[in-house]
Amino acid sequence: MDGNGRWAKKRFLPRVAGHKQGVEALRRTVKACLDAGIGVLSVFAFSSENWARPPEEVSGLMELMALALSREVAGLHQQGVQIHFPGDTSSLSKRVVEGQRKAVELTAGNTALVLNVCFNYGGRWDVCQAAARAQAQGEVITEQAIAQRLALAHVPDPDLFIRTGGEMRVSNFLIWQMAYAEMYFSDVLWPDFGAKELSLALGAFRQRERRFGLISEQLDATAAPDVKAGT
Ligand code: FPP
Repeated sequence: MDGNGRWAKKRFLPRVAGHKQGVEALRRTVKACLDAGIGVLSVFAFSSENWARPPEEVSGLMELMALALSREVAGLHQQGVQIHFPGDTSSLSKRVVEGQRKAVELTAGNTALVLNVCFNYGGRWDVCQAAARAQAQGEVITEQAIAQRLALAHVPDPDLFIRTGGEMRVSNFLIWQMAYAEMYFSDVLWPDFGAKELSLALGAFRQRERRFGLISEQLDATAAPDVKAGT
């Protein structure tokens, strides 16, 4: 969800105002995903590296998480959204951790959309914590042993990765899970993102041929509907 800071700067507002507007964009995008029948939406709300930002921005983002937990969860629950907060909770405040726990518990039975709000998350952290747990449990380190212990083990790997704000980097998001994700980059700043931009991204996704290491002719021969994007 990149571009909040620039959105605010253009309007001579503090960066946190951009993040606040980012919550609005997230609400719109959740609705657009529900309307489009998308099963899983995972967003990067705070990265392991974001702690190094100016202290007022870090505390603003923490406050925003606490606020969003008290204001947004009931509405999401009503819409049938199941919420998760993948990330390292060890350095988050008790208030935030408790709010997250309650939201997860309340929405656990919902099935319309799984929403992963990655918070204090980093792809490298995720792979390391999964490997460390596998090792502690005496497992041989295999792809499966790690994949089963990742913070997003409850959902399939993403099909589509969208980065807003014009940058073309992964920035330590779901580095393991994105092995075969289609990449889509939008110049739109996150606070301006919504149904129209999602629809453009989905349109681009439908044009892609997903080969998963095979060649085109093999896909045509098997015509596996779930291997071809958009079918
Ligand atoms: C990156 O844009 C965005 C973030 C670091 C924060 C994203 C958070 C939200 C959208 C709010 C949702 C959060 C919660 C707590 C539910 P940037 O600040 O790097 O933008 P810039 O590149 O324009 O400076």
